[in-house]
Amino acid sequence: MSLAVQIRQHGGPEELNVADVEVGQPGPGQIRIRHHAVGLNFIDVYHRTGLYPLQMPAGIGMEGAGVVEAVGEGVTHLRVGDRAAYAANPPGSYCEVRVMPAQNVCRLPDGIDFETGAAMMLKGLTAQYLLKKTLPVEGLALGDFVLFHAAAGGVGLIACQWARALGLQLIGTAGSDAKCKLALEHGAAHAINYSTENFAARVKEITGGKGVKVAYDSVGKDTYEGSIDSLRPFGLLAVFGNGSGPVPPINLGTLASKGSLYVTRPTLFTHMATRESTQAMADDLFAVVRSGAVKIPIGQRYALADVQQAHRDLEARKTTGCTILTL
Ligand SMILES: NC(=O)c1ccc[n+]([C@@H]2O[C@H](COP(=O)([O-])OP(=O)(O)OC[C@H]3O[C@@H](n4cnc5c(N)ncnc54)[C@H](OP(=O)(O)O)[C@@H]3O)[C@@H](O)[C@H]2O)c1
Repeated sequence: MSLAVQIRQHGGPEELNVADVEVGQPGPGQIRIRHHAVGLNFIDVYHRTGLYPLQMPAGIGMEGAGVVEAVGEGVTHLRVGDRAAYAANPPGSYCEVRVMPAQNVCRLPDGIDFETGAAMMLKGLTAQYLLKKTLPVEGLALGDFVLFHAAAGGVGLIACQWARALGLQLIGTAGSDAKCKLALEHGAAHAINYSTENFAARVKEITGGKGVKVAYDSVGKDTYEGSIDSLRPFGLLAVFGNGSGPVPPINLGTLASKGSLYVTRPTLFTHMATRESTQAMADDLFAVVRSGAVKIPIGQRYALADVQQAHRDLEARKTTGCTILTL
């Protein structure tokens, strides 16, 4: 048996309830993992509200770290007793123990503790594919400017540090002066409070009128127009989230008139479609964390029983960095 958070219908944080559920044996391609910590992500809110619909009843949560308890047929990269961490489908990581597909579960290297593992896999692998693989046609070079919204959030503070390590000048936005300070402390070259400032105008100022090569936009509805206005010709708008709501259809003519722009709507799980690509991305993340270039900033910890409050705080923009559920 395991304590697990379930929802019976889409809705507010009050739909998140802890239940005692039965946990079976792993089938082919699966493992059973006992979590030591679980990561919270904004996608969990989309799953809860139904922006990304789930079949009911549903588990919630896509990130965790713990110890492998049992291994199903055909799983060769994990053994019983391994320390492991993951970002993976299907949702259901808000629990003590679960059976799940093994493909996206990686062995956690020595020197990376469970809380760090639980906090960093979904957010860190997202920063990885954004900064390394979601690039303008001519790529990114040392000193290039990129714009990154919600820079003091979970993905954001990891991206600030990783961008600095790559020699990029990340212009971060955030909803308060305190959050801007945090982004700067984590490696953002510039920070703009987009609650009080016109960020597109500030980006133009900072870049000497040119604009950035890429705008990484997870805020969506409230920011995408400003993101387009922050791009230089041939620039790339990478919309990877809906913090303020989904981006409505964009008129392709806008991309022409603003300078032959590109738009993409990437998701982590396209990049993690195979065991090989998952491990290669994870190895890159593990290396940058073990080197100390990227420190995983855990801003909040909640008990599993306090999961409703954790969701309220995440949606109310009260959190910074990564959030975990402790077990
Ligand atoms: N496509 C992918 O592969 C992928 C993978 C991972 C994450 N994501 C996306 O990346 C974003 C960041 O994820 P995260 O888990 O690290 O969350 P997070 O950044 O810690 O939290 C979301 C942040 O978005 C900002 N925000 C702006 N407008 C908002 C609004 N109306 N309501 C709520 N928040 C608002 C807030 O920061 P300020 O107060 O500073 O504005 C808030 O703290 C999310 O949109 C998520 O869906 C996408």
